[in-house]
Amino acid sequence: MDGNGRWASKRALPRTAGHKAGSETFVKTVDACDRLGIEVLTVYAFSTENWQRDKEEVGGILKIMHAYIIKYVPELMKKNIRLRILGDMSYFDEESRKALEESERKLQNNTGLTLCVALSYGGRNEIRQAVNAIIAAGEKDVDEETVSRYLYTAGLPDPDLVIRTGGEKRISNFLLWQSAYAEYYFTDTLWPDFDEDCLKEAIAEFGNRKRRYGK
Ligand code: FPP
Repeated sequence: MDGNGRWASKRALPRTAGHKAGSETFVKTVDACDRLGIEVLTVYAFSTENWQRDKEEVGGILKIMHAYIIKYVPELMKKNIRLRILGDMSYFDEESRKALEESERKLQNNTGLTLCVALSYGGRNEIRQAVNAIIAAGEKDVDEETVSRYLYTAGLPDPDLVIRTGGEKRISNFLLWQSAYAEYYFTDTLWPDFDEDCLKEAIAEFGNRKRRYGK
């Protein structure tokens, strides 16, 4: 969900206003994916690297997340949406961690769209944690399935399509293991401007790709 800051700068607004606008796009995108019958949507909301941004911006983003994830739970419940938070929760204070876990728990038996929010997420950090957990569990003959089981995404399918908005053409530590065979789609559209037509365009292009999985 890249480009919130630039969207705000173009309008001479504070960066937090861009994140607020980005949150509206987040809500609309969840709704569109739900209606389009997509099984799993993962949004990259906050990376482990994002903790290094200035205190005011981090505080603003976290406040928005709190409002949109935690207060949004009854709405997600109505839509039968399941929630998974993917990320390193050790960065959060006890209260936020508990609130996020509680949101996940309330929605865990839903059977519609699975909404994954990558929050305090870094792909390398995820793999590092998985390696430590595998060692601690004394696993032998570690195969690819074993690694997948120890990632935050355990039990979820690998992504088919990864969309990056905002014009940059890099992965930025997102789902490194899981995206081995994902199709990438890059668009210059800034995240707050990414609407349902943009989403449908990305899906249509995905439909034209030939996936050979190296064969
Ligand atoms: C990247 O834009 C965006 C973020 C670091 C934060 C994304 C957060 C939201 C959209 C808030 C809502 C999320 C949820 C799950 C409710 P940027 O700040 O890097 O933009 P720039 O590249 O233009 O500076």
